[in-house]
Formats: sequence, C-alpha cells, structure tokens
Amino acid sequence: MKASEAHSRARRPPDPAGSGARGPTTVRALIEHAERALRAARLHYGHGTDNARDEAAALVLHALGMRRPLTWPQLRRPAGAAARARLAQLLTRRIRERIPAVYLTRRCWFAGIALYVDQRVLIPRSPIAELIVRRFAPWIDAARVRRVLDLGTGSGCIAIACARAFPRARVDAVDLSPAALAVARVNVRRHRLARRVRVRRSDHFGALRGARYDIIVSNPPYVGERELQGLPREYRHEPRLALAAGEDGLDSARVILRDAAAHLNPGGLLIVEVGDSATALRRAFPRLPFVWLAFERGGGGVFLLEREQLSARPPRKASMTSRRRGRNGNDQHVGQHHR
Ligand SMILES: C[S@@+](CC[C@H](N)C(=O)[O-])C[C@H]1O[C@@H](n2cnc3c(N)ncnc32)[C@H](O)[C@@H]1O
Repeated sequence: MKASEAHSRARRPPDPAGSGARGPTTVRALIEHAERALRAARLHYGHGTDNARDEAAALVLHALGMRRPLTWPQLRRPAGAAARARLAQLLTRRIRERIPAVYLTRRCWFAGIALYVDQRVLIPRSPIAELIVRRFAPWIDAARVRRVLDLGTGSGCIAIACARAFPRARVDAVDLSPAALAVARVNVRRHRLARRVRVRRSDHFGALRGARYDIIVSNPPYVGERELQGLPREYRHEPRLALAAGEDGLDSARVILRDAAAHLNPGGLLIVEVGDSATALRRAFPRLPFVWLAFERGGGGVFLLEREQLSARPPRKASMTSRRRGRNGNDQHVGQHHR
C-alpha cells in the first residue's frame, strides 16, 4: 500500500451508520456512532452548532423522524435498518460535501423559534437573537415599539422573533433576494404572522420611501473579499449574496449608516451586525459613537446607535472620549466566529 493510500484510509471516517449486522442498535448508540464519524472527518462547525455531538444528535433525530427533547426511554429505543440507511446518507453528505447539518435537516432554532431553512438563505445564528429575547432592554422602552424593520431578512428569523417579542408592532422584513423572500414567507405563514410581518423586496431602503421605524435591525452581508476566500467549505453552501460585502466587507454597512437616520423615529435604534468587520468599520467611521454589544451566549461584532447619534458628527477627538459603554461595561466585544 502506498503511503498516500494508507494516509487516506486512516483519515476515512468509520462506516457512519453501521449498516452492517453489527451496527448500532439503539438511538443512543447511533448518536455516539455518528459523533465519532463526524469527529473523524474534522468538519467545521459554526452553523447553529459548535460541536460534533449536537450535529450527530440532530442528524440522528432527523433520520428517525424524532424531535427534541429526547427522553431516556427514547434513547434506548431500537434503531431499525431503514433509519440507519437514512442516517448513512445524511452523514455522507455532511462529510463529503461539507453541507451544514441544518441544510440537511431543514430546521433550526432562533430566539426560541423553530424555522424552516434551506440553501436559499443564510443559516440563522446571529447573536442579535439574545437582544430580541430581552426586547432590546435596556436600550428602548418596549411599550413604545410599534414599527420594526429587519433589513436583509433571509429566513425571516429576526423579523419573526421581533414580531413575537413586540406583539403590538408591525414589522417590515425586506431582502434583495427573491429566493430568500420565498423562505421568509414560508416562516411568516407558519408562525401565523402574515398580518403583522410584511415581507417585501427592497435593495436596502430602496422600496421603503417615507417609512419610519422605532427599531431598524440588520444582519447584512459583511464578509470581505479575502476573508471570503478563506472560509471553510461549509460556507460555500450559503448564498454568496448573504455573505459577500465587497473588498472590506462594509458595502452594506455603509449604505445602512448613510440612510438609516431618515428611516428612524426620534429616539429610534439602529442595530447592525458586522462581525469580524467591526475593526474596519471603526476605522472607516472614527467619529460615530458605536456602542458594541456583548452577549452572554457568545458572538459579537454588533453595534447599536440611536438616530440622533447617526446624524451627529462631533469632532474626532470628542467622539473618542464620549464613547458610550454598554450596561455591562463592555463597549467592544468582537466575536471570533465567521458570520
Ligand atoms: C447575513 S444574511 C442575514 C439573514 C438573516 N437576517 C439572518 O440573520 O440570518 C444577509 C441578508 O441580506 C440580504 N441582502 C444582501 N444584499 C442586500 C441588499 N442590497 N438589500 C437588501 N438585502 C440584502 C441577503 O440576501 C441575505 O438574506
């Protein structure tokens, strides 16, 4: 055997579903087996999970047609040959094609809400979920929130979560991609929010002339050209339009910062995720008093500005010294994760 052949055999994952007669026989054994196969394949995690065990459980449950949370008796249930064969197919696609598990199960969670997801949209994972669950406290009086804009809605995750968090608010969910909007509509319908969440096509604020909001939230594309080239294969399954934002990753953020003030009510909030492009943004807009939010569950690169701060242009020195701190005392918290 050649050295290269031996190497590739050594790296080949074990038969993931144990399709032979001695394969795993219970749900629990199947999860453990799938976890070993995923680990051996040295995959990238970052699309809703950060470890092999969670992805193994998600794929096994999908193959078995079961839902979380699992009980002990369910874990001891026998796993039939048909389910093992379905799992084998899922693992093969996850490992060979590097397809994120969520695109295989077509289901994910965001701010405690279940969503349909496929390759027409980015897999929801924004830390903004945490802020929505807290109803944007302490930054705004939730009782006064009547109009919210989710700019670059993708699956509709942020818009739907906002509509649930603010039952008296109407939400505009806009995106440039008609394919993404089709997915957002599925989710809005499933959550019976069609009366309060309006899904429409817009190039940034282009189709929103005259509209004003109490909160504008956006998780726009923010990956720069070089960073995009270096992303793990998993990210190539996501729409390029959802990731790529020009040379420095700021194409979308620039438009948002230019136009948001005209679409905010007095005291209104702009919240934007820019991920690892936060440093470039601070350099590009040294006079804006960005408040960088910190999150208990990780992630970062999300800034907040009030409408009045968007139009204010204090001299550079003054803005640096008057930079506001978040309630937790953390004014900069830039996540290491991609997107
Ligand atoms: C990073 S994804 C965010 C999706 C979703 N909000 C989330 O958090 O999972 C960015 C979204 O912005 C959309 N987008 C890109 N350029 C846009 C533009 N010029 N105007 C409006 N939406 C745009 C993409 O189609 C994509 O759905």
